Amino acid sequence: MSYETLLVETRGAVTLVTVNRPQALNALNSQVLADLIAAFAAYDADPAQRCLVLTGSEKAFAAGADIKEMQAKGFAQMFGENFFAGFERVTATRKPWIAAVSGYALGGGCELAMMADFIIAADTAKFGQPEIKLGVAPGMGGSQRLTRAVGKAKAMDMCLTGRMMDAAEAERASLVSRIVPAADLVAEALKAAEAIAGMPPLAAIANKEMVNTAFETGLATGILFERRLFHGLCATADKAEGMAAFVEKRPGNWTGK
Ligand code: CAA
Repeated sequence: MSYETLLVETRGAVTLVTVNRPQALNALNSQVLADLIAAFAAYDADPAQRCLVLTGSEKAFAAGADIKEMQAKGFAQMFGENFFAGFERVTATRKPWIAAVSGYALGGGCELAMMADFIIAADTAKFGQPEIKLGVAPGMGGSQRLTRAVGKAKAMDMCLTGRMMDAAEAERASLVSRIVPAADLVAEALKAAEAIAGMPPLAAIANKEMVNTAFETGLATGILFERRLFHGLCATADKAEGMAAFVEKRPGNWTGK
């Protein structure tokens, strides 16, 4: 399948999605959203695909929601369309995915990266929520996900001043999991994705659900959810295989069952 604003390729069990709207620094217009929804749904539905990497260009992961598209829209239209709600279909992706960020990840670009299970940043990455300078505020989850990732002080600083955070600060603040040289970004993200793709697939989904639950619930309920999912995994063929493989000192052979 081909997309107007994305390049999608598969490398073994890894899907590589590249946002490709260079004329607008990958600004996220309705077409990019529609393409992302379709590409992520195709990935989630394909049992041969086990991890996805989303990246942009060297200069911009994405410079935000498309300001020119939003310029003429008032409250009634935004509310009526439930503008940005489509991104919930991207965050509903069950299987793991990584954002590989080089250059600008601003506004909706930062918010899209934060929807990923984790972010790998190039040393050139710049994160920001500059919407205040446009008379608005984050609208794709930035005020919530950024605050959960970096805490109130830095989230307030970023949202109220609209300043950018470089990759080193983003790593110190736990917004990104690691920094790599820009030239190696996609290769390093693919390497991480291949490692995930080599894991038992049901366990990968369960691990993702557990970590995400930490942001949705209290500690005791989260720990119970974790323990019950752990118990549930013990009913899978891949658990029997994984433990047998350890004891027999050989690699596991996963069936996803
Ligand atoms: N929407 C639409 N077009 C955009 C865009 C955006 N978010 N960001 C960049 N572009 C376009 C520019 O208009 C320009 O197009 P033209 O050549 O047709 O004029 C092209 O991309 C190149 O951009 P610049 O010439 O501005 O490039 P630069 O290197 O001088 O500056 C930049 C780069 C600092 C990222 C600058 O483009 C910029 O500040 N962009 C806007 C960043 C922003 O405010 N993002 C938040 C958007 S609101 C939002 O995202 C809401 C939300 O919560 C979801």
